[in-house]
Amino acid sequence: MNRNDAPKAPAKTTPATFHVKSFGCQMNVYDGERMAEMLGTRGMTAAADGAQADLVILNTCHIREKAVDKVYSDIGRLRREDGSRPMIAVAGCVAQAEGAEISRRAKSVDIVVGPQAYHRLPDLIDKAGRGEEAVDTDMPAASKFGALPGRSKQARPTAFLTIMEGCDKFCTYCVVPYTRGAEISRSWTAILDEAKALVDGGAREITLLGQNVNAWTGEDDRGRMQGMDGLVRELAKIDALKRIRYTTSHPNDMSDGLIAAHGEVDKLMPFLHLPVQSGNDRVLRAMNRSHTADSYLRIIERVRQARPDIAISGDFIVGFPGESDAEFEDTLKIVEQVRYAQCYSFKYSPRPGTPAADMDGQIPMDVMDDRLARLQALLNRQQAEFNAATVGRRTDILLERQGRYPGQLIGKSPWLQSVYFTVSPTMPDLSIGDMVEVDIISAGANSLAGEPSRRKAA
Ligand code: 5AD
Ligand code: SF4
Repeated sequence: MNRNDAPKAPAKTTPATFHVKSFGCQMNVYDGERMAEMLGTRGMTAAADGAQADLVILNTCHIREKAVDKVYSDIGRLRREDGSRPMIAVAGCVAQAEGAEISRRAKSVDIVVGPQAYHRLPDLIDKAGRGEEAVDTDMPAASKFGALPGRSKQARPTAFLTIMEGCDKFCTYCVVPYTRGAEISRSWTAILDEAKALVDGGAREITLLGQNVNAWTGEDDRGRMQGMDGLVRELAKIDALKRIRYTTSHPNDMSDGLIAAHGEVDKLMPFLHLPVQSGNDRVLRAMNRSHTADSYLRIIERVRQARPDIAISGDFIVGFPGESDAEFEDTLKIVEQVRYAQCYSFKYSPRPGTPAADMDGQIPMDVMDDRLARLQALLNRQQAEFNAATVGRRTDILLERQGRYPGQLIGKSPWLQSVYFTVSPTMPDLSIGDMVEVDIISAGANSLAGEPSRRKAA
């Protein structure tokens, strides 16, 4: 179907059911959950999928070109066999970046709402129901968090909690500073209240989220300035909360306090996602990363001193404008030096409005393909090695879900690996959300097989 010829009139003017589909990062997943909870408190119910919903919210990602294309093909696919369609809202970073342009390009889009304005969704739904233009890409001074209802009970034992938003770093390839706005930390009390509500609702693990989560800063309840390490130490006091994670971090915000916390706070999991992007200093400068390959390696070294078994993860971009073969080799070199547990790697994608999009020396696609394949082969090898090294260890896993086979349960190791095992009749009853002590007996590329020791973990 052509993007522009979708039918305009939504099936229902006051939607009773909704479906939120989130793309991209975990912050989008979190936003999607908060949208769903808000619509729930307004009396709407969640539909099982988009095909049945009166309102479909596409919570989009703008980080790479492919993610944007996906939005438009998804909009097209929402048309039903009888020619009708749901009310369609485009939320997230594409909404922020493209604004009203979206509903001009895809006529079937009824609502466009940016990541800082989704607390106003109910009004926008009313407007769209009246056939009015419903576009809101404001970045209001008063944060949306104050206007959202409290957290509802979690179906899963793991929860996300956004503690800061936006980014002031302006890496030259990245759209985030434009779509998510300036760095803003949520308050100490708001975060602790939300964490307690999540734990009361059943969460046993909380992942603190932010584009630069380790840049979080705020006053505690006694007026003292704290960094994210202070927040982690306070969260660790919540008894029923067993695990704390955080993502994504910037090397420059890796404070001494946070590094020390990795060695001192048991509930802080031994996992660090610390993107370096490239192993070459000229490329890092052109990316405006404000760290060098060497300063990154020194941070990793210190983190490992504090917590020797920590799993290191990262992000890489290959084919940044001007990247030579030799400069790319430096990326392979830094990977060899770090020894990653897992990583994400991407081909550079020019994003409209970012400085790098206009730089000379854009790299041909076949060169990027080749570099990405070489990098991923190395990263996959390292991931397999990291997994293999856990075989023989006894460790706690947090049970997250049933597996595909009867009696199979799946949980996560402290190092964020999926571990599966099959329940035997002699085992005590286990439930999702339990912590179970297992012996890791074998390792695959993406998961580990475990065998519970005789006892349930504390
Ligand atoms: N092209 C390719 N990858 C990108 N990332 C961010 N912007 C771009 C881009 N324009 C990657 C970075 C970042 C991750 C979230 O996405 O590696 O850390
Ligand atoms: Fe983008 Fe760089 Fe900010 Fe990360 S630190 S969100 S890559 S600008």
